[in-house]
Amino acid sequence: MADPHAKMTKATPQEVMVSVVLGLLAPLIAIVLILFLIDSIQSGQVDVDDPEVAEKAVLKNIAPVAKLEARDANAPRVERSGEEVFNAVCASCHTPGALGAPKLNNKGDWGSRIAQGYDKLIEHAINGIRAMPPRGGDPDISDIEIARTVAYMANSAGANFKAPEAAAAPAAPATDKAADQAAAPAAAPTADKPADKAAAPAVDGKGVYASSCAACHATGAAGAPKAGDKAAWAPRIKTGNDALYASAIKGKGAMPAKGGNAALSDAEVKAAVDHMVGLSK
Ligand code: HEC
Ligand code: HEC
Repeated sequence: MADPHAKMTKATPQEVMVSVVLGLLAPLIAIVLILFLIDSIQSGQVDVDDPEVAEKAVLKNIAPVAKLEARDANAPRVERSGEEVFNAVCASCHTPGALGAPKLNNKGDWGSRIAQGYDKLIEHAINGIRAMPPRGGDPDISDIEIARTVAYMANSAGANFKAPEAAAAPAAPATDKAADQAAAPAAAPTADKPADKAAAPAVDGKGVYASSCAACHATGAAGAPKAGDKAAWAPRIKTGNDALYASAIKGKGAMPAKGGNAALSDAEVKAAVDHMVGLSK
């Protein structure tokens, strides 16, 4: 009697394995493709009838342009020229006039704005005004860079503002930070009386700030008082430089000693404090 299964068992074990695996894989691939399709449909959908949603979509679309210059927070800070900052961050709105932004080189757009004065424009560029986001949406831009960029923009349209060259923000009164002593960096803070502030090699407070403090103090992370936030700094500044130096060197609450960078000398930490206080007065 002939075995009815004889024909079916002709397939080798390998052939059986392959068809089983393919049989399992096919529906899986189909599911993955469907998921991708759903995802791409959802992310492409924007309700352009809602102005708020549409504006967010515009901001989202230009974000890659505005963020072109992603910088390493640990790299030493180099102040860029107004033109560089403009091209990197501000041009996305201020060249085409997006969202009603005054256009570069356009006297009509700028006339009444220039009449407000250089300081007022800088203030609006730093804090934002209506559809203009604070610092053009890039909190990494320093006050000096903003001041230079505002001069670059306003001067293109007929103003004659003088941009700051030196490392001192226009609004910040000059402090005696460069005079900070470096003779005894290991001495206890209490020993560092203002009296022994002899001339010393200039300590780069701004550079120290950018590399060791900005991570929290530019963003307000962990509840850190933001550099430039006058309200947050006023009560602290009142406690006096020595108290601030001591908090920064030894740590205070969520503020780690020397910002977590034990390699910094006391003089460097103090210079960074001076820099932040200068930005925040
Ligand atoms: C997302 C778009 C956008 C970006 C990016 C942007 N701006 Fe603006 N900006 C605007 C708009 C919109 C206005 C007009 C706001 C108003 O007066 O209603 C404006 C106005 C201004 C003004 C005039 C403020 C006044 O008082 O009249 C200055 C100065 C300015 N921007 C500087 C900058 C600088 C500097 C940058 C880059 C660091 C920048 N902007 C990036 C949208 C933008
Ligand atoms: C990990 C986040 C972080 C880093 C990094 C950091 N800080 Fe702070 N800082 C804080 C926080 C949080 C506070 C608020 C502490 C409080 O008042 O309780 C603070 C407060 C301060 C104060 C005010 C102290 C006072 O007595 O009111 C000074 C000054 C200061 N930081 C300096 C610095 C300096 C200088 C650096 C860099 C060398 C630095 N910080 C790095 C988080 C940070």
